[in-house]
Amino acid sequence: MTYDFDHVINRLNTNSLKWDALEERFGAKNILPLWVADMDFRAPDAVIQALHHVAEHGVFGYTVRPDSFYESLIDWFERKHKWKIEKDWMIVSPGVVPALSLLVQAFTEPGDKIVIQSPVYHPFFYVVNQNERELVDNPLVLTDNKYEIDFEDLEEKLSDERCKLFIFCSPHNPVGRVWTKEELRKVGELCRKHNVLILSDEIHCDLIFKGHTHIPFASLSDEFADISITCVAPSKTFNLAGLQSSAVIIPNEKLRKQYKDALRIEDGDMLNPFAIAAFEAAYTEGEQWLDELMDYLEKNLHYLTTFFQNEIPQVTVIQPEGTYLIWVDFRKLGLTEKGLEELLISKGEVAVNQGYIFGKTGEGFVRINIACPQSTLKEGLKRIKKAIQSIKDPVSD
Ligand SMILES: Cc1ncc(COP(=O)(O)O)c(C=O)c1O
Repeated sequence: MTYDFDHVINRLNTNSLKWDALEERFGAKNILPLWVADMDFRAPDAVIQALHHVAEHGVFGYTVRPDSFYESLIDWFERKHKWKIEKDWMIVSPGVVPALSLLVQAFTEPGDKIVIQSPVYHPFFYVVNQNERELVDNPLVLTDNKYEIDFEDLEEKLSDERCKLFIFCSPHNPVGRVWTKEELRKVGELCRKHNVLILSDEIHCDLIFKGHTHIPFASLSDEFADISITCVAPSKTFNLAGLQSSAVIIPNEKLRKQYKDALRIEDGDMLNPFAIAAFEAAYTEGEQWLDELMDYLEKNLHYLTTFFQNEIPQVTVIQPEGTYLIWVDFRKLGLTEKGLEELLISKGEVAVNQGYIFGKTGEGFVRINIACPQSTLKEGLKRIKKAIQSIKDPVSD
């Protein structure tokens, strides 16, 4: 191990959303944050060095992107995901979420229907509703502690002629599924059959646990690539979310033009100089860091799973295949969603994401971020146990 993921870094007073916005978001100051999708780890050394280099230069004017910037992403996806991306297909964006909103505007009209699969990353609801499109849910189905796609229902939803777009989360946040080739094929065939574009948010594509493989939807066939818009970024993979850099990949030339036209700003795809440097350094030199990170997350996942099995058996961990966001089922405790939230904050002094923010199907679940030193995770789980023991029918020790 080159990197010390056990090392606890004090993130308080660093303008961190995760650590410094607790009072605003949870109404309590001294609580332990295991929410929001960023990690309590330092980025790879190469990224930090690249940022030093930019800072030391001291001139932060408008930017262009060198070929090496594009090559870093192209090489990464070819090597890690067997997907050959062409430079022309890439349009950069500061964040995936702003891109999602613009993509909705570019490819649909007000009143059009857009399919999502709840429980799902909550901004998907927002980008559809705020843009006055109609949200159509194809809820994922939980069978034997694993979420599956209800393809019959999906086909029914996609076949509506007002349905124009499917926002697909692959791998899926929060349920942790890494979709198989068969599942992706079925999704693609249905979208093709019913002329629905697929917006595949693959921001978590590099955070994959052993035994699973992420397959970029667009890599499966030219026909699928033709109806695809894929969002990727180094931000989750290398913990660079605050630097804001991502890429929208659109292989179909006509669709690409449609998106570029919708951006409606000349040079609208500029990134800041720190984002450019970090993006390139991460994709070029971050692989070893990522390998070590995944080993560490695997250990944290094992710790969390064993903890719940042994200490709070009424609570079930949905085993993730990818991402560091763990979807945990608290429904057997019989609490209302507000009751569970209040309990964890006031009695546990721990901040997690409540399942209901991911849609109605998320009620009674909690999303726990395990991308932290194991000592932090242990403390968080101890607090969750304390909160649960404080209710009238406490679990036995
Ligand atoms: C599925 C998904 N898409 C997008 C984002 C955020 O992307 P960005 O920070 O680039 O806007 C997240 C963050 O958790 C996410 O889980």
